[in-house]
Amino acid sequence: MALSWVLTVLSLLPLLEAQIPLCANLVPVPITNATLDQISGKWFYIASAFRNEEHNKSIHEIQATFFYFTPNKTEDTIFLRQYQTRQNQCIYNTSYLNVQRENGTISKYVGGQEHFAHLLILRDRKTFMLAFEVNDEKNWGVSVYADKPETTEEQLGEFYEALDCLRIPRSDVVYTDQKKDKCEPLERQHEKEKKQEEGES
Ligand SMILES: *[C@@H]1O[C@H](CO)[C@@H](O)[C@H](O)[C@H]1NC(C)=O
Ligand SMILES: *[C@@H]1O[C@H](CO)[C@@H](O)[C@H](O)[C@H]1NC(C)=O
Ligand SMILES: *[C@@H]1O[C@H](CO)[C@@H](O)[C@H](O)[C@H]1NC(C)=O
Ligand SMILES: *[C@@H]1O[C@H](CO)[C@@H](O)[C@H](O)[C@H]1NC(C)=O
Ligand SMILES: *[C@@H]1O[C@H](CO)[C@@H](O)[C@H](O)[C@H]1NC(C)=O
Repeated sequence: MALSWVLTVLSLLPLLEAQIPLCANLVPVPITNATLDQISGKWFYIASAFRNEEHNKSIHEIQATFFYFTPNKTEDTIFLRQYQTRQNQCIYNTSYLNVQRENGTISKYVGGQEHFAHLLILRDRKTFMLAFEVNDEKNWGVSVYADKPETTEEQLGEFYEALDCLRIPRSDVVYTDQKKDKCEPLERQHEKEKKQEEGES
């Protein structure tokens, strides 16, 4: 009896190990110039889930967000132009993110504090994730971005795997809705201004 129990446990071990690769896509990967080229351009914030209550609350207030990443490979910074819709209003903001290449993280100063996130490029290179507070079970969270506002189940597969790994239920995922976006007119205006500037110079 005891022997059969031991055998059962032993035979389960490889299964348990086989589950670990679920977390493989949360392992930090160093950021290279190729990574920075890859994330350069326009992205849509699709969904996120946080254990941290404050973050959980604030993501519920975001209706839609798209943004532009402009990396600077000599400075190791990313210029961020963000168009966010909250309470049916467009909030435009620009800021600089710092890149810690070896650690595979990007960071931003908010209220005098530097906040870090792991940058995780997915198999489908038209999507990427940011993982926050990965060493703090009570506060960790993950968000997913794509080059289009609509994503497929397949594209979000790795995001869901990450959630399973962090033991965050799918019912805690908060999705954005690009139909609620109020920023497109402002983006069009910015593009028009840019073209005019280029025309003048
Ligand atoms: C996140 O917020 C929602 C809605 O307020 C709530 O139902 C849910 O329990 C919260 N989850 C966490 C992890 O705080
Ligand atoms: C990157 O930053 C350096 C140093 O500030 C600057 O000289 C360079 O023009 C920037 N490159 C781009 C592509 O903006
Ligand atoms: C990354 O790109 C910068 C700017 O183009 C260049 O100066 C640097 O040598 C590159 N680094 C590597 C490892 O290729
Ligand atoms: C833009 O970002 C700065 C710095 O993070 C912040 O102080 C400011 O309140 C933001 N503006 C808006 C409109 O959100
Ligand atoms: C990389 O991570 C280590 C360990 O968390 C930290 O000590 C170090 O300051 C980080 N490096 C950068 C450039 O952020």
